[in-house]
Amino acid sequence: MIRQNRKNVKRNTGILIALLIIVLVILGLLFFFEEEEISQREDGFRDADAPIPEEQIGGRIENGIHAETGLIEGEGLKLVIGHCTACHSAKIITQNAADREGWKKMIRWMQETQNLWDLGEHEDIILDYLAENYAPKKRGRKPPLGEIEWYELKN
Ligand code: HEC
Repeated sequence: MIRQNRKNVKRNTGILIALLIIVLVILGLLFFFEEEEISQREDGFRDADAPIPEEQIGGRIENGIHAETGLIEGEGLKLVIGHCTACHSAKIITQNAADREGWKKMIRWMQETQNLWDLGEHEDIILDYLAENYAPKKRGRKPPLGEIEWYELKN
């Protein structure tokens, strides 16, 4: 009888330890995924109330593209990185296209609704950069046929 009880106690302790390990593993996984979610959020959108300081902006330029952000190299690049990647990734810029007026409207919209700060004297430089490098693509029209070289079909 006593022996039987001991056996049971042993078995129960074993089950308890196994359960404990399972719970710990689940908690660990939950924690891990939560961490991941946070870091995913960070490179998507984040709250910011100031531009990124210029001394923090570095990085390599490869084939005319700033490697870290994918932005085209040009006058005003650093200002654009500093002001425009503080809340969201630069992808949102590189995937957009507009003329100067269009970019200005987007900036005003962000200022009115997303707490984008006044860009001050940087605004003109940033608008020039955006309008020059992220202008709407020309319509994909086929070029008119030029000189046509006729040739005879031979069988
Ligand atoms: C204070 C934060 C903040 C800053 C700084 C900021 N943006 Fe934004 N921007 C946002 C938010 C938030 C959205 C997206 C809102 C949404 O669509 O849900 C957005 C959206 C955009 C979009 C997409 C607009 C659309 O029509 O879909 C573009 C393009 C853009 N920003 C460009 C810029 C440029 C260029 C700058 C620098 C001048 C800049 N952003 C700086 C907050 C910011």
